Order: sequence, then C-alpha cells, then structure tokens
Amino acid sequence: MTDYNIYLPYLVAIEKITEEAPGVKTFRLKFKNDEDARRFSFKAGQFAEYSVFGEGECTFCIASSPTRDGYVECTFREAGKVTSALAKLEEGETMGFRGPFGNTFPLDAWKGKNLLFIAGGIALPPMRCVIWNVLDTRENFKDVSILYGAKSVADLVYKDELKAWDERPDVKLVTTVDPGGETPDWKGAIGFVPSVLEKMNPSAENTIAIVCGPPVMIKFTFPVLDKLGFKPEQIYTTLENRMKCGVGKCGRCNVGKMYVCKDGPVFSRVALEALPAEY
Ligand SMILES: Cc1cc2nc3c(=O)[nH]c(=O)nc-3n(C[C@H](O)[C@H](O)[C@H](O)COP(=O)(O)OP(=O)(O)OC[C@H]3O[C@@H](n4cnc5c(N)ncnc54)[C@H](O)[C@@H]3O)c2cc1C
Ligand code: FES
Repeated sequence: MTDYNIYLPYLVAIEKITEEAPGVKTFRLKFKNDEDARRFSFKAGQFAEYSVFGEGECTFCIASSPTRDGYVECTFREAGKVTSALAKLEEGETMGFRGPFGNTFPLDAWKGKNLLFIAGGIALPPMRCVIWNVLDTRENFKDVSILYGAKSVADLVYKDELKAWDERPDVKLVTTVDPGGETPDWKGAIGFVPSVLEKMNPSAENTIAIVCGPPVMIKFTFPVLDKLGFKPEQIYTTLENRMKCGVGKCGRCNVGKMYVCKDGPVFSRVALEALPAEY
C-alpha cells in the first residue's frame, strides 16, 4: 500500500446501508476499480478518511474485519457537516475512501491469551473489526468476553451481531444500558459499564482488556481494571483526536510529540501514560 497517492481517494460504491440506531448508519463499501480492490489490504485497528464530493472528508475506523474480503464497512454517527452529507447518500452512490492509515491491534502478541472487550456507545465499531478478526481465527485465543453498554436499548448498534455473539458458546457477551434506558422486555444488565464490569469480576490472569468508549467511560473503567489487577501493559484503547491529513503531515492530531494518526490510533495504557497530562 505504499505506491499510491495517499491524498487521492479511491472511488467506492455504497453497496448496503444499515440503520443501526438513531443517527447511526453502517455503510458497506465496494471498490469501483478491480485493481484498487486487489491491492487494498488493512489490519484491525486502522482507520480511513471517507469523503463526500464537494463537502469534505471525515475520519472513521474501518469497522469490518480484514478476514472478510471484498468490502470495507464504516459505522458513523451524524455529528456535523460531512457526516450529515454522508447520511444523505443512498445505496449505489459513489463516495471517496483514503486509507488504511494508523497502527493496528497487536493480535499476534495476543495469541494464547484471554481477551476482554469493553465498549460503550458508538465506540463498538473500532472493536467490531478486531472482534470479528478474533472470532474468525478463534483457535488462536482463549476466553473471549465482550461487555458492551449504550444509553438505551435503541442506542445499541449491531443488534443482529450482538444476538449472534450471544448465541456462540465460545463468547461471553454482557450488554448493558444506562438506568432508565431499558425497555420492558430488556434481558441484559442495567447500569454503567464500569460498575457492570466490576460485577463481572473478570480475571486479569493472562488477559488483555481492550477498552473503547467515550472519555468518561474510559476514565471510570481504568480504575476498575486496576482494582481487578490488570497491569497497564494488559490494557489497550484507541484515540479519536480530530484529524485532517491522516498521514502525519498537518499536525492536527498531535499530542506532545505523538501523532495519533501515525503512532496510533491504537495505544497501550503504557503508551497513554507517557503522553502529556491532559491524556
Ligand atoms: C481514528 C478515528 C476514528 C474514528 N472512528 C469513528 C467511527 O468509527 N464512527 C464515528 O461516528 N466517528 C468516528 N470518529 C469521529 C469522527 O471522525 C467525527 O465525528 C467526524 O469526523 C465528524 O465529522 P463532521 O464533519 O460531520 O463533523 P464537524 O462538522 O467537523 O463537527 C461536528 C461536531 O463534532 C465535533 N467533532 C468532530 N470530530 C471530532 C472528534 N474526532 N472528536 C471529538 N469531537 C469531534 C466537532 O468539534 C463539532 O462539535 C473517529 C475519529 C478518529 C480520529
Ligand atoms: S491528522 Fe494530520 S498529522 Fe495527524
């Protein structure tokens, strides 16, 4: 992926649109040019720049797994200018895609370990990529647990996939909604992610915790992981600093000497602790 112009988007067609939750959509994208499709490859954890012609670009993780060939998916929430323009596009229309950029989850180093995924709200997409990658190569890992929380039942994304993960004997899935966000038929937990995690009481022994969510969730989840005995080198997250170029040229995303677009977006807690105090 080094011999192409990093500023020139690939042309991709929107093959399928899924409405995940209020204001949240998943696009399945296919390369319009067969040669682009052949040369494109990525790894779990990477992100891309998605563009609407005449409107601009915005940054999303690649939410599909590299183990599923032939397409890429992104899941986004309408937040502002570009995401609103993106949300108006329909199946069959063409948009731009630049990437993949950034580093990856160290899946090879996690072989033989238990994996504990902890996600909140719209932060399940970066995790979905690595979850599917792990489930498609399930023999490489020990226990796989997923804790996913959203404000309300309506706000849970990937509802069909949550059902599929719940039915698998080799995955332990716990879903939770904030108090008041439940429906009469809700069978999951009720409570904020950090307190549900404490009740789950997972073992830190030979376990890697991958945490993605809003800053407030991360802030209260890390102390619970500390209490459970997780060391900083056992904890990973992804950062979502505002970006422009995505390739370490514009200086938009830096934290101290670190460029989130190049040195991240995946960081171990050890690396996070080396960042300036606001992180
Ligand atoms: C590596 C990475 C991965 C991301 N993955 C996803 C994803 O999978 N799905 C998803 O929905 N979003 C994701 N985001 C966030 C997404 O990039 C922004 O929400 C989006 O670019 C907003 O574009 P916009 O032009 O519609 O909004 P704008 O008009 O630019 O902004 C609308 C509002 O959102 C705020 N905002 C915009 N970008 C960010 C940001 N990065 N962090 C905090 N606030 C922001 C602005 O300050 C403003 O208040 C990711 C960001 C990064 C850096
Ligand atoms: S987004 Fe331009 S340097 Fe990181």
